[in-house]
Amino acid sequence: MTIICRCEDVSEEEIMKAIEEGCRTLDELKHRLRLGMGPCQGRTCLPLAARILARETGQTMADVQMQTSRPPAVPVALGLLAGDSRD
Ligand code: FES
Repeated sequence: MTIICRCEDVSEEEIMKAIEEGCRTLDELKHRLRLGMGPCQGRTCLPLAARILARETGQTMADVQMQTSRPPAVPVALGLLAGDSRD
């Protein structure tokens, strides 16, 4: 068994089974398997999963869409989050 996502303990076999059952995008794999939702936020596993998805579906890497990123809507100073509530 080859582990692709170490943070969420997702194997290559689980990814291939999800693709076999209809997943066609990284977002679908993420929603189904929690792939890329660990502490590293998919830094290592999403590129590997994209290669598996492209290989198994016959798509090119350009066809495999990377997940949507969700940056903060408004920049927030870290001190504001970590500070006490008096400010
Ligand atoms: S290895 Fe997948 S989220 Fe970290």
